Amino acid sequence: MRTRPRFVKHRFQSLENNVTAVEILPPRPISSTVTPMKQKTVIITGANSGIGKAAAKYISAAGHRVIMACRNAERAAQAQIEIGADSIVGELDLASRSSIHQFTDWVHREFDAVDVLINNAADFDLSRTEREMTPDGFERIWFTNHLAPVLLTDRLMDRLVSSPQGRILNISSKGLLMHPFQIVDLKDPMFGKRPYSPAKAYYQSKLAQIMHTRWLEQQLTGTMVTANCIRVTNVRIDLSRFTNLPQWMKNLYSIKSLFSITPEKMAETYAKAALNESARDVSGAMIDYPFKQTAPPVYAKDPLVIEQVMQLTFKQLGIQPSISFEDAQT
Ligand SMILES: NC(=O)c1ccc[n+]([C@@H]2O[C@H](COP(=O)([O-])OP(=O)(O)OC[C@H]3O[C@@H](n4cnc5c(N)ncnc54)[C@H](OP(=O)(O)O)[C@@H]3O)[C@@H](O)[C@H]2O)c1
Repeated sequence: MRTRPRFVKHRFQSLENNVTAVEILPPRPISSTVTPMKQKTVIITGANSGIGKAAAKYISAAGHRVIMACRNAERAAQAQIEIGADSIVGELDLASRSSIHQFTDWVHREFDAVDVLINNAADFDLSRTEREMTPDGFERIWFTNHLAPVLLTDRLMDRLVSSPQGRILNISSKGLLMHPFQIVDLKDPMFGKRPYSPAKAYYQSKLAQIMHTRWLEQQLTGTMVTANCIRVTNVRIDLSRFTNLPQWMKNLYSIKSLFSITPEKMAETYAKAALNESARDVSGAMIDYPFKQTAPPVYAKDPLVIEQVMQLTFKQLGIQPSISFEDAQT
């Protein structure tokens, strides 16, 4: 097992301490060949649009190497022009198990360590009227937004542990506040027996990601790797990307956008959580916009439910976690 020599203390210390300056540098010219002293390797899933792309721009501008893990090569190449410098595209379709395997095999071949993994990509096509399945037979939202980040993180764990201070950032949603009774249906997470609702499927997956984070924090005790969850607030989305939305939903999103922040604003919190020294020893936390800690839903903090959800997760994936609590203690 990959334990780290130093024990991580104060895992719930306040983020607000020491956060006076944004540790993000102005963009460098693309032609710059200067390699920063402590360049990090940062994987961002879904880095071709929205918050993921904006975060990739910040992190790249700060001198770090960004691996844009995207499913569509054309969209990724377009975004890469804006992100520039040291960004690299890696093909990754989170709705496909074999794609996750291919991507992680490629990372293993190319990189000795991964400093930050941002599990940003998500399927939130709420216009669906029927349950959709992945080629591997999983309900698409549950797999893309929860099982896939768990599998991806697990398969990259050795590379994260090889970093001097690996960081895992999962992404949840402030919209969960509007769904106070949301649970993870342990008997039917993929809507095989109950009526399908894309919104319920989405919020269930975002709740499960909070639990994944808290579970990781436990498993990683004794290592230098931290795991935190970012609670994304109402952020403007590019409606042109969702051509199949019914008109009423487009109208709703247009009204919502009047109260939303830009992806760039939200991405500052991603970049700080990924890079700032003040977040170094923070683990198991829920990070809110703008870069402050907040409390997760009570349900998502219950250790018994977390254990049940993660047992179900690994059972569905048909794998054993690559790191376990017992390993980390030895
Ligand atoms: N916007 C909000 O108000 C809001 C609120 C709460 C939480 N969030 C969360 O914030 C994160 C970023 O959302 P955003 O607002 O930036 O939306 P976005 O612009 O639509 O970005 C979503 C990204 O996920 C990628 N993606 C979707 N399915 C994928 C798959 N199977 N494999 C690989 N990549 C896939 C998309 O790639 P393609 O370009 O190929 O589709 C896109 O790059 C998500 O986790 C979302 O749940 C957003």
